[in-house]
Amino acid sequence: MASESKYELIIGDVFETLPMKAKERLFDLIIADPPFGISFNKSSHEYGADDYDLYEDDFTAESYFGFSKRWIQLCYDALGAQGSLYIISGWTNLQSILNAIDTSKFHMLNHAIWQFSWGVYTKRRFATSHYHILLLVKNRKDYQFYKQKHYDEDVFFWPEYNRGNDPHRIKGHPCQLPIVLLEKLINTSSSPGDLVGDVFSGSGGTILAARLNHRDVVGFEIRKEYEPIIHQKARFGKPVFPSKKESTLEKFL
Ligand SMILES: C[S@@+](CC[C@H](N)C(=O)[O-])C[C@H]1O[C@@H](n2cnc3c(N)ncnc32)[C@H](O)[C@@H]1O
Repeated sequence: MASESKYELIIGDVFETLPMKAKERLFDLIIADPPFGISFNKSSHEYGADDYDLYEDDFTAESYFGFSKRWIQLCYDALGAQGSLYIISGWTNLQSILNAIDTSKFHMLNHAIWQFSWGVYTKRRFATSHYHILLLVKNRKDYQFYKQKHYDEDVFFWPEYNRGNDPHRIKGHPCQLPIVLLEKLINTSSSPGDLVGDVFSGSGGTILAARLNHRDVVGFEIRKEYEPIIHQKARFGKPVFPSKKESTLEKFL
């Protein structure tokens, strides 16, 4: 049952908290949806950022590259020998992230796309409707990978989910990934009982997705004000927008 899986939320700067936690147990899988770098990223409105009171996100292009390099190295050190890392990124910061990966010892196995729709109207260019999902492994000959369907292609699309209507979405965080996406990553690259980490927890979606799939999980988040919503989500808090579709969550309520 989901209640058997353990979760922990560590509030603080991941550069300090992750190395400490990894001394206790190395991670099998880490998911990273890093801050966007809003201040240098003039296209932040592409992701709907104008609509929200965003968390502090103060970078220059150079410092974003340095920041990415440092946390990618941190993840490398915190993973076990068969470990995998998923990086989720918009297109505007992708170049810095890819350059940072090039400086690491990770092997990149996939550059996948999550396509979403959300009805944004644009006049003089196409509306952004995708994120990049990068799959990195420490050892290209020895890693976990369990296909979720026979033809498991590198463009993910759930027509019933756009950026804002995930049934597990809760009030209080601007950038929540859908649980269905996080479940796919977790089920593809880890096994029940494994330890999953999310180095930029945000609203805590990875914690919920890991618990629904019987993985132990540690979430790291710097902003203390997100603590209550992360716990709410992690403890199978009631959906704000109940879905007509059958939700895995309902099994545990
Ligand atoms: C893009 S959001 C993650 C959203 C998350 N994937 C979700 O679905 O809710 C990035 C998060 O990283 C956090 N963050 C930024 N710098 C951090 C750091 N140094 N250590 C830990 N968390 C950090 C931010 O406060 C923000 O909540």
